[in-house]
Amino acid sequence: MDAVKKILVARRAPAAVLDKLSARFDVDYHDGVMPLAADELRARLQGRAGAYITGTERISAELLDACPDLRVVSTMSVGYNHIDLAACTARRVLVTNTPDVLTETTADLGFALLMATARRMGEGERLLRDGGWKSWSWDFLAGQDVHGTTLGILGMGRIGQAIARRGRFGFGMKIAYHNRSRLAPETEAELGARYLSKEALLSQADHLVLVLPYSAESHHCIAAAELALMKPTATLINIARGGIVDEDALAAALRENRIAAAGLDVFEGEPRVNPVLLTLPNVVLTPHIGSATMPTRLAMAGLAADNLIAALTGDVPPTPLNPEILSA
Ligand code: DGY
Repeated sequence: MDAVKKILVARRAPAAVLDKLSARFDVDYHDGVMPLAADELRARLQGRAGAYITGTERISAELLDACPDLRVVSTMSVGYNHIDLAACTARRVLVTNTPDVLTETTADLGFALLMATARRMGEGERLLRDGGWKSWSWDFLAGQDVHGTTLGILGMGRIGQAIARRGRFGFGMKIAYHNRSRLAPETEAELGARYLSKEALLSQADHLVLVLPYSAESHHCIAAAELALMKPTATLINIARGGIVDEDALAAALRENRIAAAGLDVFEGEPRVNPVLLTLPNVVLTPHIGSATMPTRLAMAGLAADNLIAALTGDVPPTPLNPEILSA
């Protein structure tokens, strides 16, 4: 009989997932609220064949070299910018993520943030709680319309398309998008989506939602020059990764009302938030909760566990990121 494989569960996980993994593997479990520091992660991965991680554990080439027994990294996230995928592939370490199960939930949050931002809900709630609601007046907390306006989507993958559906079918919005590759004509037709250059998208969108993956290429792809193309009445929503936006440039644009408002669920260097953003009234801030509903988080955790189990027991995992390793 094969020796029981050893894994590290590097973040808190649902009890059912932990039970499932413990029934098959020798599990070292980090049950802390905070992520393991890099040196602790390295130490606890020694002799471990698998790692169950989330977006807070960085898997670098150096870490892989220091943990030669590691064969599978299963992240409970769709994003994988915290993992050096090329380095994993070069070392024949299989990487899996959790796409699809969070698409609709994350699109819900994106749309909620858009609504809250356009309709100044964060500002209104703060004002009310602070006792600042004195009377009604014609322009009191008057924001921007959502229905019938142009919804711009930068990054038209699964989540971008789910947001487009909400905008088109729920709010009668006109859908425009920019993406590395253009959608199939039938998908464009279904969504009523117009493909635009990035510049045209920036200048035509009433509400611009960022849903593109984070990479060296998309780092600060919304900076001063891009913000300058946007309408002064436009809102910017980021549910992708903080590093996509130059937050200093965004804070300056918001402070000078060069765009109307922003809704941000992700931040560069989170959980730290750019202190200037915290002082601005026209920004709605949420703490990276795009996929945070109980059913979706359970589904993500379950899929991450299934990926790890399959990969370590010789089956094909449901959602591998570097499947070429399996066929090689
Ligand atoms: C994801 O799944 O990538 C979410 O951003 C949570 O990390």
